[in-house]
Parts: sequence; structure tokens; C-alpha cells
Amino acid sequence: MPLTHLLNHNRDWAAQMVRERPGFFTGLSQQQNPRYMWIGCSDSRVPANQITGLEPGEVFVHRNVANVMVHTDLNALSTVQYAVDMLKVEHVIVCGHYGCGGVQAALQNVRIGLADNWIRHIQDVRDKHKAALEAAPKQHQLDMLCELNVIEQVMNVCHSTVLKDAWHRGHQIMVHGWIYGVHDGLLVDLKVGGSALEQVEHLHAAAVEHVFKQNRAPALKNIAAAATY
Ligand code: CO
Repeated sequence: MPLTHLLNHNRDWAAQMVRERPGFFTGLSQQQNPRYMWIGCSDSRVPANQITGLEPGEVFVHRNVANVMVHTDLNALSTVQYAVDMLKVEHVIVCGHYGCGGVQAALQNVRIGLADNWIRHIQDVRDKHKAALEAAPKQHQLDMLCELNVIEQVMNVCHSTVLKDAWHRGHQIMVHGWIYGVHDGLLVDLKVGGSALEQVEHLHAAAVEHVFKQNRAPALKNIAAAATY
């Protein structure tokens, strides 16, 4: 069955844009010049443009299950490289979300199928912060792992050769770690971002500690030190 309603909606939308903003598509057809790159989860509830109010042409997007940045993922790395080196984006935003199914599967060891191998990367994050996570109240653990996953994926972006080389060349580019609430539509900055590797590494411990404090978790003396690397 053809998806007539979607195609009809598209025609209406394109006609409305032409009516209200003559030249909109002509301008975009010549070049894209986005200032932002978005690395997010594939979850249908987290559409990058809509929740940030960005228009076509304004954000370059890569999405996968649970917004993971794997060191050897040529798909993600190629996208980041194109955004940074060719499009010269000024900001890379890693955005996770609460209630992420991929993170939940990782936390609870749920078997999904092929994706188990992908989710293993989030279990690496879980295992890195195992002591503090296990000491936290059960009802907060998923939120915490969703936040920790963003923090660690920001680190992975910053440790990629693409970002390291760009910063080495003096390219002003800032990486951000955000999390989105599918329950309230709000974005929160996890304050792990920065515009230099040293800066991001410096903020990492504080950001991790903030996750545990905010979720009223454990009386661990030094949460960051409890992480296993
Ligand atoms: Co998700």
C-alpha cells in the first residue's frame, strides 16, 4: 500500500514553504552550511530538528541505536569527518535520551538479537561505572546509565582522530553532551562538553559525579575514582 498520506503531506509542506519563503529550496539546493552536527539515538521520539527548532540545512545528523560513538565505526566516523572537515560545523552535539531502549537492554542484560553486539558498547559504560551504579537506587539506574552513556560517547568523539586533528589545526569546534526527556520534551546539558581534549577530560570526572549526586545515589567517597577503566 503506497503511503499516500505521507506523500500528500510532503506536497502540502513543500508548497507552503514556497509560498511563505520564496527561494528557500533554491538556496538549499546550492549548498548546505550547517553550524551543528547531531549524534543521537534512532528513537522515533527524538527528532533532532524538531526539538531544537532547526530548519532543513541547519543540522547535520547521525543517529544510531543509543547514540553510540564506536572508535572503529566507519559510518559514524565518516559522518563526523565530513561535518568537521568539509562542512566546518562549529558544534558537535551528542544527545541521549531518558528511557532509551538500547540503554535499558544493556543495563538489564536483555537479549535482542544482532543488536546485542552493538549494545555491548553500552555495557562497557555500565561496567566502567559498575560500583557506583549498583550502589544507586534501582529506580534511578536507567536514568543514570542514559546520562553516563552520553558522557562516555562525548569522550569517544573527542578522542577520535577527526576531532583531535581538527583541534590540532586550530579549528574552533565545541563538543556538547545533552540528554532529552521524552516525558517532558526538555533538553539538559550534562556539562561535559568543551572545545579542547584537555578541557573535556578535565570535566569528565565532575560530570560523572554530578550524575550520581543528582540521582541521590550513593555515599561513595569518590565516585569518579570508583570507576574502572
Ligand atoms: Co534510545
